[in-house]
Amino acid sequence: MKLNWSQDNYIKAYKFAAHAHQGQLYPGTEISYIMHLSFVSMEILGALSVEECNGDLALQCAILHDTIEDTDITFEQLKSEFGLPVASGVRALTKNASLPKHYSMQDSLQRIKEQPREIWMVKLADRITNLQAPPPHWQQGKIIRYREEAIEIYEALKDSSDFLAARLASKIKNYIKSINEFNNS
Ligand code: NI
Repeated sequence: MKLNWSQDNYIKAYKFAAHAHQGQLYPGTEISYIMHLSFVSMEILGALSVEECNGDLALQCAILHDTIEDTDITFEQLKSEFGLPVASGVRALTKNASLPKHYSMQDSLQRIKEQPREIWMVKLADRITNLQAPPPHWQQGKIIRYREEAIEIYEALKDSSDFLAARLASKIKNYIKSINEFNNS
């Protein structure tokens, strides 16, 4: 079977993201932030092994998805390095920080839905990755809200990938256990 993505494009995006996020840590840990990018792109690779789509677009946006939101990288820089589809995808995945918190998610989902389905898939992969055990400092209310937000993402974007939708659904289901464990602790 022929690959529908390029290892060289993956490496180029990963190096770019590693430089951009240099010095950032995964919240609540001493681990480099780029672990998150490895997990999100790994979820995309899982989907690419069973579903047809533009693998380069999905993987590059997965690796670069937090650059505009969390680093000095601009839309224009992404456009000149990776082209308009990747830059537009990353911009759609970037929350508008000037909006109130709940509305910024709805706004981002709306902009993601105007993009090709590969961008929807990155948002699913991002939330799958973020539904591992919640950081120890999170309060119960925050965990519950995060889970509700995940359901909102699932409902909005599930049609982009049966594979990722099923994986997110199971993560949402198992996340309840984290809440129960919290209650019992
Ligand atoms: Ni992310």
